[in-house]
Amino acid sequence: MAKVSVLGTGMVGASFAYKLLGTGLASDMLLVDVNARRAEGEAMDLQHAMPFDKPCNIRSGGYADLTGSDIVVISAGVAQKPGESRLDLVKRNAAIFRDMIPQVVQAAPEAILVIATNPVDIMTEATIRYSGLQPGRVVGSGTILDTARFRYLLGSYYEVDPRSVHAYIIGEHGDSEVAAFSTATIAGIPLAEISRQQDRPYSQSDMDSLFEQVRQAAYHIIERKGATFYAIASGLVRIVEAILRGQNTVFSLSNRMTGQYGVSDVCLSLPAVLNREGISHFLKLPLNQAEEAGFVKSAGLLKKLAEESL
Ligand SMILES: NC(=O)c1ccc[n+]([C@@H]2O[C@H](COP(=O)([O-])OP(=O)(O)OC[C@H]3O[C@@H](n4cnc5c(N)ncnc54)[C@H](O)[C@@H]3O)[C@@H](O)[C@H]2O)c1
Repeated sequence: MAKVSVLGTGMVGASFAYKLLGTGLASDMLLVDVNARRAEGEAMDLQHAMPFDKPCNIRSGGYADLTGSDIVVISAGVAQKPGESRLDLVKRNAAIFRDMIPQVVQAAPEAILVIATNPVDIMTEATIRYSGLQPGRVVGSGTILDTARFRYLLGSYYEVDPRSVHAYIIGEHGDSEVAAFSTATIAGIPLAEISRQQDRPYSQSDMDSLFEQVRQAAYHIIERKGATFYAIASGLVRIVEAILRGQNTVFSLSNRMTGQYGVSDVCLSLPAVLNREGISHFLKLPLNQAEEAGFVKSAGLLKKLAEESL
């Protein structure tokens, strides 16, 4: 029996709810949106999928109905207005969180909060501040999607299932993110050695262009279909599964640093162990110098943005 609530039932929230329904992980699902009719419509549509899917008590409602939630997934937010700066957008989403998060915690003090709203690292920091929760109970989806894109592209390049690729994108979910190539492996074998075994030279320029595809993916998808939502929805469902089933799964997630690579008091992503209590701890990747410097730089940029916007 698990109650999973979704706050913000736009493209990401609704896709997540639909995918979650198919898993049978939640016995109860609550959909909340400032646009109450939209949440209601999504709930009705999902209810009608039930004869084909798994049983689940699906409702729409308000903050008070969050009571009893094990997990609240937050994908509520506003989109950038034409001509609006990134900083102004961050401030608008921060204002929404300042109003929303205390109401969430009041109704569901036991819930683990999973954050998808962008910029996700700043919204994760905002949620920790405005909720008063122990930081590990706030799970920023961080670079989970960038890491998935990285693994997909490496899998295609080396012709292996992306699930057999262990590789991480760390730092900001955004332009300053870092690809930890030096620790990337397939079956524990470093990429340069895999290349050798496949009789082709390890190509730095191929790897650079692969990482560029990761960094540009959201822009390219938004250009074509207006938004990205299926892959992040799949990632959010895996996060929820790891929490509800206490799986100790490692995902690249955003949370407040506590001295990793000399970085503290700013939220960004590293591989993190996730279980029933939320984020248990980060793992320390043996990064090379350039990767570590990139991570520290990413942290600095995010710290500045948090100072300016929260
Ligand atoms: N973390 C990631 O990897 C990732 C990937 C894709 C999208 N996103 C982010 O997820 C967020 C949602 O994206 P989307 O495509 O679903 O957008 P969307 O515009 O389709 O949905 C946002 C929803 O939030 C609702 N909302 C706005 N203010 C609210 C409030 N105060 N309370 C409750 N609901 C409120 C809106 O009514 C809307 O239904 C965005 O910030 C987007 O950038 C993150």
